[in-house]
Amino acid sequence: MNPRLRIDEDGVGRLTFRDPERRQNILTQEVMEVLAAVVEEAEDTARRGVLRALIVESAQPGSFIAGADVNAIAAIEDRRAAIEASRAGQALFGRIAALPVRTIAAVRGICLGGGTELALACDYRVADDDDRTRIGLPEVLLGILPGWGGTTRLPGLVGLSAALDLMLSGRSARVSKALRIGLVDQVLPRQQFEERCLGLARGLAGGEAGELGADRRGPAGGAGKPLESGRPRPGPRGRRTLASRFLDGTPPGRALVFRAATRQVARRTGGHYPAPLRILEVVRRGRGRPVAERLELEARAVGELAVSPECKNLLFVFQLREAARKGPWAGVGRAAGVERLAVIGAGPMGGGIAQVAAYRDIRVRMKDIRHEAVAGGLAFARSLFDGAVRRRSLRRREAERRMALITGGIDYAGVGRADVVVEAVVERMAVKEAVLREVEAVVGEGAVIASNTSSLSIDRMAAVLDRPERFAGMHFFNPVHRMPLVEVVRGAKTGDDAVETLSALAVRLGKVPVVTADAPGFLVNRVLGPCLNEAGHLLDEGWDARAVDRAWKRFGMPMGPYRLMDEIGIDVMGHAGSTMAEAFGERMAPAAALVALAGSGRLGRKGGRGFYLYEKGREKAFDTSVYSDMKLSSVRAKAKPDQIRDRLVLVMINEAARVLEEGVVASAADVDLGMVMGTGFAPFRGGLLKYADDRGVAEVAGAMEALRRTCGSRYEPASLMAELARTGGSFHGAFPAGCGRDAE
Ligand code: NAI
Repeated sequence: MNPRLRIDEDGVGRLTFRDPERRQNILTQEVMEVLAAVVEEAEDTARRGVLRALIVESAQPGSFIAGADVNAIAAIEDRRAAIEASRAGQALFGRIAALPVRTIAAVRGICLGGGTELALACDYRVADDDDRTRIGLPEVLLGILPGWGGTTRLPGLVGLSAALDLMLSGRSARVSKALRIGLVDQVLPRQQFEERCLGLARGLAGGEAGELGADRRGPAGGAGKPLESGRPRPGPRGRRTLASRFLDGTPPGRALVFRAATRQVARRTGGHYPAPLRILEVVRRGRGRPVAERLELEARAVGELAVSPECKNLLFVFQLREAARKGPWAGVGRAAGVERLAVIGAGPMGGGIAQVAAYRDIRVRMKDIRHEAVAGGLAFARSLFDGAVRRRSLRRREAERRMALITGGIDYAGVGRADVVVEAVVERMAVKEAVLREVEAVVGEGAVIASNTSSLSIDRMAAVLDRPERFAGMHFFNPVHRMPLVEVVRGAKTGDDAVETLSALAVRLGKVPVVTADAPGFLVNRVLGPCLNEAGHLLDEGWDARAVDRAWKRFGMPMGPYRLMDEIGIDVMGHAGSTMAEAFGERMAPAAALVALAGSGRLGRKGGRGFYLYEKGREKAFDTSVYSDMKLSSVRAKAKPDQIRDRLVLVMINEAARVLEEGVVASAADVDLGMVMGTGFAPFRGGLLKYADDRGVAEVAGAMEALRRTCGSRYEPASLMAELARTGGSFHGAFPAGCGRDAE
């Protein structure tokens, strides 16, 4: 039974979650039903004086409770059902909060969403001091809000600003922060965690709060109880500065907090995400009202958000991501065998790959041909670890330990012992071929060799190897530590085992793998290419670059196409443009403006000057002189945002259709995941092809057809698109997820 309750002779009950079927505890419908029965037992035994204090805990290593069942939320289609689901959870957690005995949530490992709300319903929260223990409310990232009492209980506990920060960012807090803001009352050493928790609970059973700080609450009970009964709360816990007392504790201070948060939400979401605004509204309107009313506001907000298209699309992307991390290629356990990694080439990519591997506890040997380059790669990795320490996501000692897992040199010492070798040397075929041959000569037969190339053929490289079945592409994106996608490129001779090992390694590195065939641009650059080139055609036609960038952001992209070109590097763009034109001919022939730009000496952000001007890497202003560098005399056309959107998005959809036709990836889900994770394609739209399906393939094909008349053959619908338009089909229907491996 999960969860279950045991009560010892001292009257200390332990309500223990453990799901033997999963790695994380999840509050599924079934678990909630068992929990309801267990809570009834707790109520009954407490009434009879048998239960005198209760610990809520998990016996699942590394996981307290990871939240509610996302699939169940995704399945909700009706507003009333969503409201009911919220009310039911609130009621159950309300009963825990109202238990006549003191309760402690004993948090070890991941504690998220519904798990955090359960912990909030307890009187006290203690956590262990493990770095992996995190507490958070990520609902906002899925387009909903904490709907089991979270928005109602959290502000009273940690203060308004800290509560909004947690709920609006969706970021989870490490225990040190949780302690600082008062989200947990005590952090206990992990070696003595159980024993210390039991000690605290025994104290509570005997009527003493002991270290938990009885002085701060009245005899009526802990944080949960005054809330339920409407009695005055003991006030926010945690350390309070003068500023936070003003901001959280006075009407003008709170008004300031709400105003600042609203502004920040508007800036971050561009108005595309309703959840954060609803969170703000629920908390603001709920202030000072009785608990029952606040809970009802919360439930109604869940009702609206859970059925919104944004929520459904965010859940869709979440599910795609989870599916990609679980298989069919990324079989759990595969990468467990990867103890040692070697990275050849210590540039920004090699250094970045080494750092993410060491971050995940993998030993790394980095090899370059120059000492300075090795030193540079190590320094780069170190700077990333330093950043993690500054952001407080890692302790200094841990950062040092992990950094020490990376060693470097200019010979092949240590490379021979690697389970996987990733080649990240300069992008030149002859150099790569030579390096790969050298690598193959030193590694063991079981090792997998991968190339991080972004544009060269995996099959051509494989041709120089004796064991091509152990070789594939492993295309990381720049910057490696931030970009979540890895394309695992399967050459004609790559074996299943190599694909599995690299996919599983990507998951272990915290990335999402998408398996692609060896075709120019693989998936992401292939589909993005036509969009950026089309932005070039818009310039040729005299459209205003700033208006185009604005319109693309308004559509929900992280940045406009020209700003993105600056980010990628104008030189890299020029090179990629000619590669794509060579591979795909006329429809990818570079726009004249971009050809001129490539020869202008502008490099983009890294050189301080592209479409925009940059100072110390930060964008300063649009540089109007870029037009003359592109040999464009004046900016004439005024464009409507929808026209711009169609010019940029339709060519991408069309290219994605070709990618599916040619079998570069197996499913529409792969395209969507790749574009969301690799380019930041508006997640609230569910991905590129989900957007096309929602808009209707026939409508999309019609818009293409209309543009073909004015813009030419680039807008010729791909045969798959034409076919789907004719038959009323959809991309996701025709190429469903999960057909990857069997389709091979
Ligand atoms: P980079 O050119 O900055 O660094 C390459 C490093 O390889 C240099 O330190 C160089 O000394 C070293 N090297 C050259 N010949 C070598 C040899 N024979 N043995 C060992 N080391 C050697 O390149 P970057 O940007 O780090 O990229 C590396 C690879 O990753 C390239 O294939 C590139 O196409 C690919 N890539 C690059 C991305 C980017 O945005 N920079 C994104 C995705 C992939």
